[in-house]
Amino acid sequence: MKIVIMAGGSGTRFWPRSVQSRPKQFLPLTSRDTMLQQTYRRLLEWLPARKLYVVTTQAYRPIVLEQLPELPEERLLLEPDQRDTGPCIALTAHHFLSQGDDEVLVTMPSDHYSEESESLLNALVEAERAAEAETAIVTLGIVPTRPETGYGYIRTAEHASEGGVLEVTSFIEKPPLDVALSLIQDSGVFWNSGIFIWKPSTIAHYMKLHQPLIWTKLSESGSDLKAVYPELPKISVDYAILEKADAIKTIPVRFKWDDVGIWSSLERIQNLNRDGNIVDGSGTVHMESTRNSIIYSDHPKTLIIGVDDLIVVSTADGLLVCRKSEEQRIKTALKAMEQLE
Ligand code: GDD
Ligand code: MG
Repeated sequence: MKIVIMAGGSGTRFWPRSVQSRPKQFLPLTSRDTMLQQTYRRLLEWLPARKLYVVTTQAYRPIVLEQLPELPEERLLLEPDQRDTGPCIALTAHHFLSQGDDEVLVTMPSDHYSEESESLLNALVEAERAAEAETAIVTLGIVPTRPETGYGYIRTAEHASEGGVLEVTSFIEKPPLDVALSLIQDSGVFWNSGIFIWKPSTIAHYMKLHQPLIWTKLSESGSDLKAVYPELPKISVDYAILEKADAIKTIPVRFKWDDVGIWSSLERIQNLNRDGNIVDGSGTVHMESTRNSIIYSDHPKTLIIGVDDLIVVSTADGLLVCRKSEEQRIKTALKAMEQLE
């Protein structure tokens, strides 16, 4: 199997630390290494380097090469534009198929936190076997612990504790809160980890079936990819294929996993101080009567007084002040702000 790490997203919910020119996967959010470096180097302990690829947007080529100097350019796949994971995965499959290579691929995010890699690796070996079957899409499922609206949900007919390879009956991407709440009541429902195991020919099969425009344009582009790619629909693979496909399977994995999607996810990973705060950034922060808040400041000096349940982030790129319970709004609010400019 080969692993392709997807490192071309924009991670807008971590604004203003994550910005278009240096998004989340290129930041040291959970350790001294950046999320991409952590992902790549951990996999290297297990897989020969020649099996490890990174796919990113042309604009991020310099950052990827700066962060992974050990990555030769032939294992760095480039998209001419940012069109989300649907076109990204189609392009990846196209790349390998055009070389007559149909070896199983693991397409995985570059910006996840996970504590135990042994169970991930065992699941990948099992998943590879299942993905050899014609048109089988294998996902890794995580047992849900809260009604998270930023994830995809995988429904199976079986009970969670049964383990092994389970048949998926439906896939629901980013449901509203009431749907998420009812989904997690069911023991046969898992979070989608965003890690998919499939052959390039399987990706091609589902692209032709559900996203014929993307596949046809890619196939016909030849040396014209730079002109064609930016015209492809911007759609994630979850909406493009997973919600529509049959023959999906899932392998439940039990390990500490988090997609570190929003500021408050850091609370599950980092140590809180005795007042329940997380404090970070290059400057000095002095706090009084402040509880359960996340403060990140690059100012030389920051003073915070009498604040509860707040996120305050100040960098050279912007200032965010947000009640923790409103955090899911950052992405759309940011879009609205950019439209006003
Ligand atoms: N190369 C490339 N090009 N990578 C991309 C692109 C792109 O255009 N867009 C996103 N990515 C990368 C991101 O950097 C990230 O590592 C990964 O693909 C997933 O994209 P996200 O944008 O972070 O997706 P999400 O978190 O909203 O949702 C997905 O992941 C969840 C788990 O973390 C979905 O698969 C959900 O169903 C899933 O639960
Ligand atoms: Mg994500």
